[in-house]
Amino acid sequence: MLRRKQGMETMMNRFFDDARFAGIKPFDSKIWLSSPTMHGDERKWVDDAILRNWVSTVGENIDEIERKLAEYIGCKYAVALSCGTAALHLATKLAAERLYGQAWPTEGSLKGKKVFCSDCTFDASINPVGYEDGEAVFIDTEPETWNMDPKALEKAFEMYPDVKLVVVAHLYGTPGKMEEIHDICERHGALIVEDAAESLGAKYRMHGKWVETGKLGHYNAISFNGNKIITGSAGGMFLTDSKEDADKVRKWSTQSRENAPWYQHEEIGYNYRMSNIIAGVVRGQLPYLDMHIQQKKAIYERYEKGLSDLPVKMNPWDRDKSMPNFWLSCMIIDENAMAPMARGEQDYLYDSIPGKSSPHEILDALAAFNIEGRPIWKPMHLQPIYRSNAFITVEGNGRGRSNAYIDGSGIDVGADIFRRGLCLPSDNKMTEEQQDMVIEIIHRCFR
Ligand SMILES: Cc1ncc(COP(=O)(O)O)c(C=O)c1O
Repeated sequence: MLRRKQGMETMMNRFFDDARFAGIKPFDSKIWLSSPTMHGDERKWVDDAILRNWVSTVGENIDEIERKLAEYIGCKYAVALSCGTAALHLATKLAAERLYGQAWPTEGSLKGKKVFCSDCTFDASINPVGYEDGEAVFIDTEPETWNMDPKALEKAFEMYPDVKLVVVAHLYGTPGKMEEIHDICERHGALIVEDAAESLGAKYRMHGKWVETGKLGHYNAISFNGNKIITGSAGGMFLTDSKEDADKVRKWSTQSRENAPWYQHEEIGYNYRMSNIIAGVVRGQLPYLDMHIQQKKAIYERYEKGLSDLPVKMNPWDRDKSMPNFWLSCMIIDENAMAPMARGEQDYLYDSIPGKSSPHEILDALAAFNIEGRPIWKPMHLQPIYRSNAFITVEGNGRGRSNAYIDGSGIDVGADIFRRGLCLPSDNKMTEEQQDMVIEIIHRCFR
């Protein structure tokens, strides 16, 4: 029987009458996908800012986290901003101005230009390309790390040799194939904006040397959004080895003031600087970054073990070349164990079949027992807003691959991961017993 599901609570309750879930009770308090984890030090630095009246966009908390983050990442400069999206915007704009020059104040610096972008990512990676009037060309995903496929990127350069900018994200805290991506970009004279919003603390072995994500592009961004590995409740950072770029980002982020006694402006500005209060929260979180990574790694490993007897796999990572921060644990169902499932733009249908399951059945079952999971980020080339943008796979043009007169259709790795995968609850406050219950519910979905 096919069931129409729209996340309605009453429909969730059917899991309580389903014999497969007999004896399981909903959690009293929700198990989250990834919620903030405060330790107490945050309050000390926020209080300190308030007591000393440093509550604007200057202050010791900002200076300290810029110094400490630069030290942690191994770069020379960090500029604290209001969010990761702001960091990505200014990173993208810096790259665009270096490539194409300063734009008119009323026009984006990428006007008329294409930009190659990760396809399987959160839309904040791509929005800055739009803010700057650029046109995103989406590059398909490889199955080994679920990030930008270097082979598809190479194809994209064959098709659009004039492109000079690439935006790369590390999905769920797993570094992508940066060595190959760098080599390709270097050969084509292209710059890289690295979106390390989800991957703070993840490392990658670049040409034999371990490097932090956030230092792998020409322009780099991280996020302190509430769901990230550490948080300021909000916030982000631009990371660089260039003093000139750091100074420019500081200037742009504080409304682009020129050096005059009055408000004087020669270029467009933004109100993107981080507040010293937010910086206090980040300052309190920083000592716990490595601890959070260890907790998230343990969660990933427990899922890996606990789900190993099911027809599913965990989100993959390159065990030779990378060390993820394991921000989100995910799983993907083997094709032959997928129960029928269909998605519209806002709703979905699935069938329950013994021995099989689907992402939405699992997500609904988890939700019924007060546990938060999430679908895999929907690839950008499938988003209505980008329906007409180019999409490049290892085969070349990924649009219009099916043919009414010929069987079969083209490769689309991102769409396949989205269809068969889901994000598992990965909250570092989840106990082992709670995680065992999550694992048990997933098992019962396959009964
Ligand atoms: C991949 C990715 N890029 C960018 C962002 C944007 O960061 P922020 O929410 O701090 O603006 C996020 C998360 O929110 C993200 O997951």
